Amino acid sequence: MRIISAKDYEGMSLQCANLIASQIMLKPDCVLGLATGGSPVGTYKELIAKYERGELDFSRVKSVNLDEYVGLDINSDQSYIYFMRSNLFDHVNIDLANTNVPCGTNMDAEGECARYDEVIRSMGGIDLQLLGLGPNGHIGFNEPDDHFPTGTHKVSLTEATIQANKRFFEKEEDVPRFAYTMGVRDIMQAKRVVMVVSGEGKAEIVKKAFFGPVTPEVPASILQLHPDFTLVADEAALSQL
Ligand code: F6R
Repeated sequence: MRIISAKDYEGMSLQCANLIASQIMLKPDCVLGLATGGSPVGTYKELIAKYERGELDFSRVKSVNLDEYVGLDINSDQSYIYFMRSNLFDHVNIDLANTNVPCGTNMDAEGECARYDEVIRSMGGIDLQLLGLGPNGHIGFNEPDDHFPTGTHKVSLTEATIQANKRFFEKEEDVPRFAYTMGVRDIMQAKRVVMVVSGEGKAEIVKKAFFGPVTPEVPASILQLHPDFTLVADEAALSQL
């Protein structure tokens, strides 16, 4: 595990965007595993800035997102497909046909999860997976459990996640209770994993996840065992180390 310490959110975002940019430059047809949430927004802004300066070409990049809420209309501004379009895809020259997000409106959970695993497999796996860290240690929507889930699956969001995500919705009742998420196996099989974490509110879970025991009760802890895992965090998030 490598830790890159940045002064603040902007510094963290630039460092992370540099890692992703180098991945695209070295392998223009790479497969990026992408995340939503507050943590990667700055990273996406930096990637857009690099694209606008003519430093990056997304035309051959393929992407596969970690997760999607179940039951939200794709035009809902809280769906993760909407998030990806407004925070990245609509601002760079990525071919939308090469982007993938689980289909939250497909109510056939078994079928959708099998389809998504096949999408990942058919792309030859993920070259670089970007992650954020849930306040309870979740990665994707792999919530604390007594085992590590493997492939794409449907999850019931925990109360901690509903509380953390309600800031994006008008009211708490609007937060969907279910999501489709890539499994821990899919994430661990990515060639490189990069996680962005910022703020004092994440300091305790950073310590637990990366300096505590590897346990499914803290899903991110398994990243300690990944051969190419980089944590890019600001000083506040690293303050308890
Ligand atoms: C998002 C995702 C989640 C978030 C995590 C942190 O696609 O899979 O695991 O990365 O909940 O969210 P933020 O960045 O909003 O603190």
